[in-house]
Amino acid sequence: MVIKRNQELVLNIEKMAFGGKGVAFLEGFVVFVERGLPGERVRAKVYKKKRDYAEARVLEVFEPSPHRTEPPCRYVPYCGGCQWQHISYKAQLEYKSGFVREALSHLGGIKEIAVEPIIPSEKTFGYRNKMEFSFSDRAWLPPEEFKKGLSIPSFSLGLHVPGTFNKVIDMEECLLQAHEGNEILRLVKSYAASSGLPAYNQKTHEGFWRFLCLRHSHARNEWMVNLVTSEEREDVLAPLAQKLKSHIPAIRSVVNNITRRRAGVAVGEREAILLGEGIIEDQIGPYLFRISANSFFQTNSKGAERLYEKVVEYAALSGKEMVMDLYCGTGTISIFLAKWASKVVGLELSGTAIKDARKNCKENSIENCEFISGDIRETLSFIKEAPDVVVVDPPRAGMHKDVVKGLLGLSPPIVVYVSCNPSTMARDMAMMKGHYRLEKVQPVDMFPHTYHVESVARLVKIKAQ
Ligand SMILES: C[S@@+](CC[C@H](N)C(=O)[O-])C[C@H]1O[C@@H](n2cnc3c(N)ncnc32)[C@H](O)[C@@H]1O
Repeated sequence: MVIKRNQELVLNIEKMAFGGKGVAFLEGFVVFVERGLPGERVRAKVYKKKRDYAEARVLEVFEPSPHRTEPPCRYVPYCGGCQWQHISYKAQLEYKSGFVREALSHLGGIKEIAVEPIIPSEKTFGYRNKMEFSFSDRAWLPPEEFKKGLSIPSFSLGLHVPGTFNKVIDMEECLLQAHEGNEILRLVKSYAASSGLPAYNQKTHEGFWRFLCLRHSHARNEWMVNLVTSEEREDVLAPLAQKLKSHIPAIRSVVNNITRRRAGVAVGEREAILLGEGIIEDQIGPYLFRISANSFFQTNSKGAERLYEKVVEYAALSGKEMVMDLYCGTGTISIFLAKWASKVVGLELSGTAIKDARKNCKENSIENCEFISGDIRETLSFIKEAPDVVVVDPPRAGMHKDVVKGLLGLSPPIVVYVSCNPSTMARDMAMMKGHYRLEKVQPVDMFPHTYHVESVARLVKIKAQ
């Protein structure tokens, strides 16, 4: 089958792939179709062609799926934030459960899997507690507007066109954040555009305004505004902080992260506090977390609560157990488990996350958690006491095979595997198969309108005969 870039094809979408695209086959050749739904017949245009597969974008839907819906967001055709706003939430949940089941059976080789019904997100919009918008000195215009020959605005603030580092869609709102966040976005944009200072250009590395990062605590209704700039200009930013506070009293802190680094990363080399103490407080369950501009925190607080409750349930502690929390981040899972365990030992690579973990324990009066910073491939061997339960929550790439070996060596009776990637979870479980039985898996949706799915799995040690 000869398929070329820019070719138009008529395709029948057969299933949904992990990655969020529909899958069609043309004489056995795989075509991944952006915004195509299983059951649909579509006309699509190829935009990428590789040896084993092609990628295409839907131009016309001949027979729409009953799960197709009208996306409420006007930026959907261009923005990389949401891939699935055109799919009903019910169907999104079904596809996500399917990813978990399929990964475990195909990649994990695990038969008879008890996959629990997926836990939906409480909110399907306005659920994100953190957003990062970029400034650009050249707004990206949708093709239909570009064709009109309109002059290109020299200032924009919004999200990137997927796969680009310098194409920023000028936005008035993002529906994934709470509505006050959109007021802040608009206020900052109009102030910055009339400030006389230019937006940063990712190619020339000149310009002042770089990023606007917003954090929100739903539990406390507090906002943090972080203005990332290339220089410190208190004369420009202090009046903006006052203006923001007078319009939106729920703003608790405004900070300025200053960075001359060329990398497009919204973390400053220095931070100046413009208003408040430079933090906000959020809650996951009964626990309080003080969050600064650069601390790691789960981006859907309510979803994280559901996930951690499941971890507590699957760990089934009696109060006497020694628990290990591998890849513990800022210690949120350790904190959730602490009151049910005799001791929790958390291992984590990032030294700043470990500092935050210790601080979080102190603030929540938790005294039975210890944290070790460093690469788990090394730190795992520091553990001399046999754990009763080990919780693992690795990054998307899953566990390194040496860590799986180390875990098998520790041989805990129970392993609770928390995953943000069903494929790597299944691969890791395949390595543990002769030693552990997968008892049950709970998918949890924390990111509506994306293909991402979290899972919690309970694995039980197989007793030697
Ligand atoms: C998915 S996050 C888990 C966060 C935490 N459990 C939570 O719920 O907030 C994965 C964590 O693994 C850490 N990490 C990645 N590679 C690591 C390694 N080789 N050794 C130790 N920690 C690592 C990352 O820094 C990150 O904090």
